[in-house]
Amino acid sequence: MLIAPSVLSADFGNMAEAVIEVKAWGGDIIHCDVMDGVYVPNITFGMPMIKAIRKNTDLPVDVHLMITKPERYVGAFCDAGADIVTFHPDASEDVQGALDIIKSKGKKCGLVVNADVDFDIVVPYLDQIDLLVIMTVQAGFGGQSFKPECLDKVRTGEKLRNEHEYKYLIEADGGVIEDNIATCKEAGVDIAVAGSAVFRSKDPRKTIETMHNC
Ligand code: DX5
Ligand code: ZN
Repeated sequence: MLIAPSVLSADFGNMAEAVIEVKAWGGDIIHCDVMDGVYVPNITFGMPMIKAIRKNTDLPVDVHLMITKPERYVGAFCDAGADIVTFHPDASEDVQGALDIIKSKGKKCGLVVNADVDFDIVVPYLDQIDLLVIMTVQAGFGGQSFKPECLDKVRTGEKLRNEHEYKYLIEADGGVIEDNIATCKEAGVDIAVAGSAVFRSKDPRKTIETMHNC
C-alpha cells in the first residue's frame, strides 16, 4: 500500500517543511488538494503552491483538482510541476480534452469519483487513465469520517481492471486511517490518501509505517 499524505492537513504557514517531513516520515506521494469554492464549498490553493511544493520534493506530486471546468487549468498544473493530475468528470465540460492535455504534457492523468457520484461516469475513460480516485468522503474538507459504502466503487474498479487488463492504480481519498486501511486494501486500493491521519498523528512516521504494512 502506497501512502499519499494530503497537505490539506499540513501547516500552510510551513508548507516547505511539511513536504520535506512527508518524505522523512516515509510518505510515497504528496497529495495536493486544489479547491475553487465552486465545485466544493472550500478554497485552498492553486498553481503557485504547486510550484513551491515542487521545489521542495522529489516525491511524485499528485494534484487533485476539485474545480469547475478543470480543462481550463490541467495544463497549467502540469507546467507548475504536477506529476499526476486528477479531476472530477462531473465538474468538466470536456473530459477527453482535459485528459488529452495532461497526456500531451507527458504527465499521468486520473479521474475522481466523488462520494455522491455513480461509478458509471468514469467507465468510458478507464482504458486511458493512470489513476482512478475513489472518494471515501464527500470532497471539500479533510478530517471527515470514512464512508465504507464507497469501497464498493473500489471493488468495481478492481473487477473491471482485472477483466479488461486496464493499467490504472486505485486511490482511496478521504477519511483513511490506521483502523480502516486494511479494509481499503482488501477492497483493492493501491494508494491511500491520508491527511489528518498523518498530520494530526503524535508519531507520523509510525502512522505511515503502520499504514504501509496493513
Ligand atoms: C477532501 C480531499 C482529501 C482530504 C483527505 O476533499 O480530497 O484528499 O484532504 O484528508 P483526510 O485524510 O483527513 O480525510
Ligand atoms: Zn484529495
